[in-house]
Amino acid sequence: MDSKCLFVISFAKTKIKFALLLFICITNPIFVLKQNFTLFASYRRLKQSDIIIESDYNSMSRTAVKMFISELKAVLQKKDKAVVMLPTGGTYLSKGGFYQILTTEYRNAIDWSRVIFFNLDEYIGVSPKDKRSYNYQLMEAVLEPLGVPLENIHLFDGSILNVKEECAKREQWIKKLGGIDITLLGIGRNGHIGFNEPGSLRNSGTRVVDLSLETKYQNMEYFKDLGGGDLLSGIDSVPDQAITVGIATILSSREIFLLASGQSKAEAVKNMLNEENPLLNPASFLIINSPGVCFIFDDDAFSLFHESQLQGGPF
Ligand code: F6R
Repeated sequence: MDSKCLFVISFAKTKIKFALLLFICITNPIFVLKQNFTLFASYRRLKQSDIIIESDYNSMSRTAVKMFISELKAVLQKKDKAVVMLPTGGTYLSKGGFYQILTTEYRNAIDWSRVIFFNLDEYIGVSPKDKRSYNYQLMEAVLEPLGVPLENIHLFDGSILNVKEECAKREQWIKKLGGIDITLLGIGRNGHIGFNEPGSLRNSGTRVVDLSLETKYQNMEYFKDLGGGDLLSGIDSVPDQAITVGIATILSSREIFLLASGQSKAEAVKNMLNEENPLLNPASFLIINSPGVCFIFDDDAFSLFHESQLQGGPF
């Protein structure tokens, strides 16, 4: 079995695809076990309705907030408490973005005491009191403005000494609460989700990761801007390591929204939608393995993956 064969399978028509997969499973089970994520790329195909494209950052954010609120209301109709996992980063925090719209226009749309919040990741060695920490940024931009009770908030503490325990605690909490209902994601320029960098495995849980040079470069600007100039600037100011929930943790969410805006994300978005090997582009796991993902892009982020491919191409 070589890569050409996988390519053919991936592009075959749906009906014969399942027959082919069945045949391969029976004739070569060991290969299937080793390669399952690649083979089963064809298991779930994207529908056009999974992808929403808006003209700019603000309309992308507005649409995403509306969909998030409607999904959250649906969850709260079925359960007493909803569990939500939040990202940080410019995609959500910039002016006119998701968090600003959520906190100003939808503050009263939900009883926030019925929502439990986790975050995706945190820099190691950066305390929650530090403006550069994701903890601080989420508290300031979202959780305090929404008036979420403190007992509903579970954010990583990057200053904690026993990081392993912090990771284990997170997985236990999520399990205890019956899993995550909604996860909001951005995407890194190298295709990372959370801080799951290229090379992250499908079954990875919450853990400590080394940040790639590309990610440190991407996030350098936040370290320069926050703190009013008295902080170290340059790539050295970005911590080398972070805590992140794993790919498995993310994929176990019942609903996932991924937002991407701007030209700088176009390559990662294209690679993800083309199902580039997830070991090179972790966001591809969302297409290959996840039960429910809604992608909301602006024109620029979607520009390298043309709409025509949705109709005539692999989908
Ligand atoms: C941050 C996170 C990251 C970011 C990604 C995009 O909590 O999980 O995966 O979503 O790096 O960052 P921005 O939005 O700054 O482009």
